[in-house]
Amino acid sequence: MLILGIESSCDETGVALVESSGPGVPVLLGHALHSQIEMHQAYGGVVPELASRDHIRRVLPLTRQVLARSDRDLAAVDVVAYTRGPGLAGALLVGAGVACALGAALDRPVLGVHHLEGHLLSPFLSADPPQFPFVALLVSGGHTQLMRVDAVGDYRLLGETIDDAAGEAFDKSAKLLGLGYPGGPALARLAEQGDPASFRLPRPLLRSGDLDFSFAGLKTAVLTQVKKLGDELASHRADLAASTQAAIVDVLCRKSMTALEQTGLARLVVAGGVGANRELRRQLDAACATRGVRVHYPELHLCTDNGAMIALAAAMRLQAGIQLPNRRYAFDVLPRWPLNAIADGKIGPYPA
Ligand code: KG4
Ligand code: ZN
Repeated sequence: MLILGIESSCDETGVALVESSGPGVPVLLGHALHSQIEMHQAYGGVVPELASRDHIRRVLPLTRQVLARSDRDLAAVDVVAYTRGPGLAGALLVGAGVACALGAALDRPVLGVHHLEGHLLSPFLSADPPQFPFVALLVSGGHTQLMRVDAVGDYRLLGETIDDAAGEAFDKSAKLLGLGYPGGPALARLAEQGDPASFRLPRPLLRSGDLDFSFAGLKTAVLTQVKKLGDELASHRADLAASTQAAIVDVLCRKSMTALEQTGLARLVVAGGVGANRELRRQLDAACATRGVRVHYPELHLCTDNGAMIALAAAMRLQAGIQLPNRRYAFDVLPRWPLNAIADGKIGPYPA
């Protein structure tokens, strides 16, 4: 079965083709991505209206590219999957509209996928795919969650951020340090040259006993240091970046270990944009090694948003026996859509 996946929830247009046959992990035949980073850079962040318009421009050329690279015809596609949420409403509508138009034209079913489920399952496309059950650390620009994952669709929330997400903490701190958008990778690069012990920054909720996170205070602490340094900032920028990264990574790492202890599971899966962070990977690798825990990451280029994870999530849902929707092609998007709602059945999104 051939599944075409379309991602358009934020500032990346992603398209991919996945083949699923039998019970094994579906195979990625091809994918293509257009990042809008350059376009938004001038504004210091994502401009939703510009994002939507650019998705419109990119999605069909990218689809053609993926089909050509995979050596498949559009007519061979069996199911079209798109990101139904969460994300920017206008941006989501582009992917949903195009997916449904393709579905109607081809007379094929269309499946709306949860963006975070895509991230969560993306490590299955790596050379060393995980096995269920596992603890998942989901760290993106909008979400920071620890989940217990027993099977496709069986997700139990263990803890989450009560304010800013980890990616947001990276991005906002980077802005205070005068680094461009997107701040996370820029801050991580600068941090490589700094001393992480030079500034004492808070690690909120570290000893709270639960698995929740809080990163809003960190941003305030970074601002205080920036103001204190004044003209001296330039010569301490790398040290402050390294200290900020250390605070975020420390909390993510320790809470992940607590989640593993509390669940008794011996497998950790890391997903989402912040999962690309090298220091986070170094610390998690070290902490997991001493505990005999296996840790899995997505391929570096599949950590941030992409179409492959959307096609994969649809394929794995179908393998798990989900009913395909009837071909009504009436669609909606869910800009706010908690991942655990899928498991709890609060919103019955599959099929749309
Ligand atoms: O998963 P993602 O592409 O989009 C969302 O679903 O939100 O994650 C984007 C987030 C941004 O906050 C970005 O700054 C962060 O991931 N990020 C990083 C790194 N690469 C991306 N943060 C720290 N270190 C990185 N290397
Ligand atoms: Zn994402």
